[in-house]
Amino acid sequence: MHKNIVILISGSGSNMAAIVAASRQRHWLERHGAEVVAVISNRAEAAGLAWARSEGIATVALDHRAFATREAFDASLMAEIDRFDPALVVLAGFMRILTPGFVAHYDGCLINIHPSLLPAFTGLHTHQRAIDVGCNVAGCTVHRVTADLDHGEILDQAAVPVLPGDTAEALAARVLTQEHLLYPRAIERLMALP
Ligand code: GRF
Repeated sequence: MHKNIVILISGSGSNMAAIVAASRQRHWLERHGAEVVAVISNRAEAAGLAWARSEGIATVALDHRAFATREAFDASLMAEIDRFDPALVVLAGFMRILTPGFVAHYDGCLINIHPSLLPAFTGLHTHQRAIDVGCNVAGCTVHRVTADLDHGEILDQAAVPVLPGDTAEALAARVLTQEHLLYPRAIERLMALP
């Protein structure tokens, strides 16, 4: 059975690139029938979109500012995603809050990566907040997406140390390195399921 993966991004897309690379190195298509078939961004200038295009992956830019409401944007986004008949929709630095209707439409096949050890530090500025309260460890979480932002079943996590004198940028870079290992691993595990 063919399992199409659609990835949604807003920015650099380093997680997306790590997922694409893993899918090729580990032969997901042959092993699991799984393939990244499209990358969609709400920002046409997202660096990750150009990279995906150069890799021969279908890309779509859909500017949320062209829509009057969140619901209208999400309806168009769903239509674009569904053209690719996805088995899994992967949020990878997609910086839009999704409507309950969107989340319900992809119930069971929508996942996200968040740069904290959930349930700690939902929302933004996770690394600075972890430093500010004196955490010794930080990390990242792959979770199922529900209508409740940054909640939903935890699928996998990776921890990294917070070092003395860490800045948010230094910690973010350390966490991001782990994200690039964690997200492909979590997705492969899902794609290996019958
Ligand atoms: C990552 O830190 C991810 O956890 C968060 O946004 C960032 C996206 O980075 N949701 P990239 O676009 O994958 O490089």
